[in-house]
Amino acid sequence: MNAPGKRTPAPPPELPGLLYIAPLGSGGYSDVYLYEQQMPRMRVAVKVLNAPGLSEHAERRFGAEANAMAQLADHPHIVQVFRADVAPDGRPYLVMKYYPQPNLAQRARGERFSVPDGLRIGIQVSSAVEAAHRIGILHRDIKPANILTGQYGTLGLTDFGIAGTKAEAAVGQIDGSSIPWAAPEVLFSAEQADERSDVYSIAATLWHLLVGRSPFDLRGGDNTAVSLMHRITSTPAPPTGRGDVPPSLERLLHGALAKDPAGRPSTALAFARGLQAVEQEQRLPLTAEWYWSEIERARREISRGLTRRQRLRAAVSLRSLRTPRRPRRVSRARESSG
Ligand SMILES: Nc1ncnc2c1ncn2[C@@H]1O[C@H](COP(=O)(O)OP(=O)(O)O)[C@@H](O)[C@H]1O
Ligand SMILES: [Mg+2]
Repeated sequence: MNAPGKRTPAPPPELPGLLYIAPLGSGGYSDVYLYEQQMPRMRVAVKVLNAPGLSEHAERRFGAEANAMAQLADHPHIVQVFRADVAPDGRPYLVMKYYPQPNLAQRARGERFSVPDGLRIGIQVSSAVEAAHRIGILHRDIKPANILTGQYGTLGLTDFGIAGTKAEAAVGQIDGSSIPWAAPEVLFSAEQADERSDVYSIAATLWHLLVGRSPFDLRGGDNTAVSLMHRITSTPAPPTGRGDVPPSLERLLHGALAKDPAGRPSTALAFARGLQAVEQEQRLPLTAEWYWSEIERARREISRGLTRRQRLRAAVSLRSLRTPRRPRRVSRARESSG
């Protein structure tokens, strides 16, 4: 396991067309800075690979991170990457959409997330992760600090730095700072990771938002990496203990945090569906797990062998889901003018 330790952030590189403003965050191998792009003028986040003595391997991983994010850039809950390049001083960088509000790790320190908020966030993150899984990418580092908050409150999953296909298992290893949300099977060997390890980390993240700390963190206790790893692999996940968390949600979280991947929901979509079932039971507005889910569902209904007449009627209602109805006033104005 790579535990890179604290590294002093490197000075920001001079980048063509971008003006440096401030640092945003640092990890083991890279620093993220705020820049202002000159044309068109807008703020962007720039992640720069900064570890000294970089290996070719690290540079390849950085390129893979940019490619993974670019393939998923159209998803509403995945941070959009605009471009990737190499700075004049030789450091590779990627330019991303800027998320100006605190990430979920920072927010969890001061904010008490309600159950409806937790369910909504859990479904949105699951939808992002499901999109990655559908193109064969495992994220492998889902945790509150990797979920950013945009200007209007939209969440974006980021940091595909150790993401990869299942075939490339051992290439990306978890960083010591990600242990609290990592599934037991990936703590000792990244090769064991599959979709269900990401499901575990989504559940650990949701648990964290509801409780204010990660599931195996002991307030005032021994939270060294070794102790955490011991508890993650051998003690059952504790309930949130919150009075307003319904038993159905406690059960779903407990299942998704199972030590044995076979005990968890088998896909991120299945976990999202479980969270939606809790929303339904609690009579909360349903969060779409997939932004075209309604259209998809309607399409499935149509293909389920209806009569020609029924199919036609369903197609009309499907169209109404896609195009909002024109306001009445507009159509009346048209009638009178033509
Ligand atoms: N697009 C962004 N907008 C705003 N802040 C960001 C952005 N990307 C990263 N950050 C900040 O930088 C931190 C580290 O970024 P991340 O991509 O997770 O790098 P690392 O691989 O070093 O963990 C994030 O937790 C976040 O606080
Ligand atoms: Mg990170």
